[in-house]
Amino acid sequence: MHLAQAQLEAFDKDGYLFLPECFSAEEVACLRAEAAVILNTQRKEVWREKSGAPRTAFAAHTYNEAFRLLAADPRLIEPVQELFGEPVYMHQFKINAKAAFDGEVWQWHQDYGTWARDDGMPEPRAMNISVFLDEVLAINGPLMLIPKSHRHGTLAAGHDIETTSYPLWTLDHATVARLAEEGGIVAPTGRPGAVLMFHGNLVHGSAGNITPYPRTIVYLTLCAVSNFIRKPTRPEWIAHRDFSPIEPIAADALMGYARGGRVAAE
Ligand code: SIN
Ligand code: MN
Repeated sequence: MHLAQAQLEAFDKDGYLFLPECFSAEEVACLRAEAAVILNTQRKEVWREKSGAPRTAFAAHTYNEAFRLLAADPRLIEPVQELFGEPVYMHQFKINAKAAFDGEVWQWHQDYGTWARDDGMPEPRAMNISVFLDEVLAINGPLMLIPKSHRHGTLAAGHDIETTSYPLWTLDHATVARLAEEGGIVAPTGRPGAVLMFHGNLVHGSAGNITPYPRTIVYLTLCAVSNFIRKPTRPEWIAHRDFSPIEPIAADALMGYARGGRVAAE
């Protein structure tokens, strides 16, 4: 998938791009079924909220065939590769559940703040590209973004290890208020199969989900190969050490898998 000039300009200006209807209903149904199995599994890569509900499943692309295919899908790899002008590798891969009733907050943060401080990533030449597996609504904890905030570089942050089960370098209220005054706050919503990509320095967060509607989103964190992490402190399954360039697979590989009968997640 290639981005048009107008999309590249919008990304540069606002720091994100929302692309509705990138994955078909069949592909998403397959991924959602696999995600449900994975999120119910007891394994170290699946983190839970304080309530016990699943929060994040890391590295599913290393042990699940449907997510292995997603992790090399050209619709996700090519736009990021083109933006960085070089091949990319998988820095992190996560399925965020934001479970019905129990999904908790993600505090305001910049992803690159964590990649730089915890993983020793030299530059913000990595970014998240995500796929909605459920419908993302205004009411079920959509990701909120502060447009244009990526232009402010890497901001001072505090290490929050208490608010949720996931340690995060978070921004203070004054910083968020100042940035929101300039860029406002948007919350892209849409059908399963939509894709959202955003700059590593774009400020974002999400509120808790108290609705009966889950909000599962898969995030691929793709990093320019030359920008590989130098000083990792987190486990390999959170911040990967395999810096090999991702070779995009055939555009219909996931569809073929979804149609051909699936292998249940291990
Ligand atoms: C993230 O910022 O990494 C995840 C936020 C979310 O899924 O709501
Ligand atoms: Mn984030």
